Amino acid sequence: MSFETTLVLIKPDAIQRNLSGKIINRIENTGLKIVGLKMIKIDKKLAKKHYQEHQEKPFFENLVDFISSSPVLAIAISGPNSIQKIRTLMGQTNPLDSPPGTIRGDYGIDLERNLIHGSANDSDALRELELFFDKKEIQNFKKSIDEWTGWTTEA
Ligand code: RTP
Ligand code: MG
Repeated sequence: MSFETTLVLIKPDAIQRNLSGKIINRIENTGLKIVGLKMIKIDKKLAKKHYQEHQEKPFFENLVDFISSSPVLAIAISGPNSIQKIRTLMGQTNPLDSPPGTIRGDYGIDLERNLIHGSANDSDALRELELFFDKKEIQNFKKSIDEWTGWTTEA
C-alpha cells in the first residue's frame, strides 16, 4: 500500500453547475482524507504550467482558456493509493467513454466539460501540489476512523 497525496481540481463547469458538493461527497466516501482545500481563479500563467505536458497539442489554448474561465476548487487528498483511487473515481477523460458510477460518467458533458482534474502519477502529483499549495496549507492530522480507512501508518 502506498500513502500518497494527489491534487484534484473541481473545474469551472462543476462549480457553475453546483456539482462541487456531490463530487466532494464521493471523494470523502472513499475514505481518503482532504488535507487542503481552497477556491482560486487560475490565471493563464498557472494554467499553462499546470497543463505543460499538453503545450504542443491543438487543444492547448482552449484548455488553458477553459480552466481559467471561472473559479475552481483546488483540493489536496491523502491516503492509501490516492492517485489511482481518484483517477478511477473520475472515469475516462471523455465522459462518453466513462461508465455510470464515475464522476465524469454520471455528470460530464464532453471532453472539455469533464468536471474534475486528478493528478495522473507520482511525479505529476508532487509537481501539481507545489503549484497550488504552500506546505503550510496542507494539514496532516489524524481522524478517529483512520484505522478503518487504511490509515494505520502516517503518510
Ligand atoms: P485532466 O488532466 O484534466 O485531469 O484530464 P485527463 O488527465 O483525463 O486528460 P489529459 O489527457 O491530461 O487532458 C487534459 C484535458 O485536456 C482536454 N482534452 N481535450 N480535444 C482533445 O482531444 C482533448 N484531449 C484532452 C480534456 O479536457 C482533458 O481533461
Ligand atoms: Mg491529465
